[in-house]
Amino acid sequence: MNILVTGGAGFIGSHLCQRLLTLGHDLGVVDNFNDFYDPAIKRRNIREVRETSRRLGRNLLIYEGDIRDIPFLEEVFRVSAPEVVIHLAAMAGVRPSIENPRLYAQVNLDGTLNVLEASRGAGVRRFLFASSSSVYGNNPKVPFAESDPVDTPISPYAATKKGGELLCHTWHHLYGISIACLRFFTVYGPRQRPDLAIHKFARILSSGKPLPIYGDGTTSRDYTYIDDILDGVVRVVEWTASPAPRFDIFNLGESRPVELRRLVAVMEQALGLSAQREELPLQAGDVERTYADLTKSAAILGYCPTTEIEEGIGRFVAWFREQGATS
Ligand SMILES: NC(=O)c1ccc[n+]([C@@H]2O[C@H](COP(=O)([O-])OP(=O)(O)OC[C@H]3O[C@@H](n4cnc5c(N)ncnc54)[C@H](O)[C@@H]3O)[C@@H](O)[C@H]2O)c1
Repeated sequence: MNILVTGGAGFIGSHLCQRLLTLGHDLGVVDNFNDFYDPAIKRRNIREVRETSRRLGRNLLIYEGDIRDIPFLEEVFRVSAPEVVIHLAAMAGVRPSIENPRLYAQVNLDGTLNVLEASRGAGVRRFLFASSSSVYGNNPKVPFAESDPVDTPISPYAATKKGGELLCHTWHHLYGISIACLRFFTVYGPRQRPDLAIHKFARILSSGKPLPIYGDGTTSRDYTYIDDILDGVVRVVEWTASPAPRFDIFNLGESRPVELRRLVAVMEQALGLSAQREELPLQAGDVERTYADLTKSAAILGYCPTTEIEEGIGRFVAWFREQGATS
């Protein structure tokens, strides 16, 4: 199949591209290689994707450009004529979205609308959208189920992801495109974004500096290992193959939340280091916990994550060391 992945040079995107190539698909990748974090990391990710495509003899085309650029997108869709679009490109991260809400709205809302419109224009029938567990805000009920109300986001990032889901439903309704919105729960593993907790902690721990702990260490996250996420996404690609157009929202998490203080202990163990802790107040926009209810994803997709935090952190640390502990 011919699949177009937006954000394919990023953390999740580059892994997904390699998995899709391995499964025998041909790929187009759209990415603007922006400097939200060091673009050299994204270039390195794409080099690995290229190597995989070369080794397997699959087609891979990289389109460097911005999803806010409508003529660029139209040209990409004309040339690549994808059967499936997996839209991951976004400004990610909760805290920076508070600093720069307009940019988040432009990329995550206008950009998503542009990708949906380009898809419609090119006759695409199958579309996946990367949403986020952050849409649940401070949902008092755990675990978080797709049927829970998500009308009270607490960061601009979360609001744009909820908005993206609404746009997706509208394009499904109006144009009969099969669309799945995937609520990813804190994804980690090799190539994880350097701004995210596990990668940041590894860097700080290795430098010997004190580790900033926001809150009393009891906040928790449903950390999800990248390979489990990829299994979920591949299942969702299959789900969109139904002849009748479908729309749905799926949690892709681990359903085993880990408290911050336990995460730090697991990381200390894996790195063989011990951290000095610097306790700081909870930050605006951060939720207290995330916890995925996977009943629906398991029933409809057969999704079943298997990677325990100790194992996943072990694999992350092995990769981190390979990078020279400076990535
Ligand atoms: N990593 C997580 O824990 C997590 C959790 C929930 C949701 N998500 C979502 O999953 C997706 C991928 O996340 P990630 O962690 O791999 O992030 P990432 O930043 O590594 O990847 C996003 C990619 O999109 C590209 N991009 C950004 N703006 C663009 C634009 N205007 N035009 C073209 N390309 C653009 C970036 O250059 C980057 O390569 C995002 O939509 C994110 O919001 C991630």
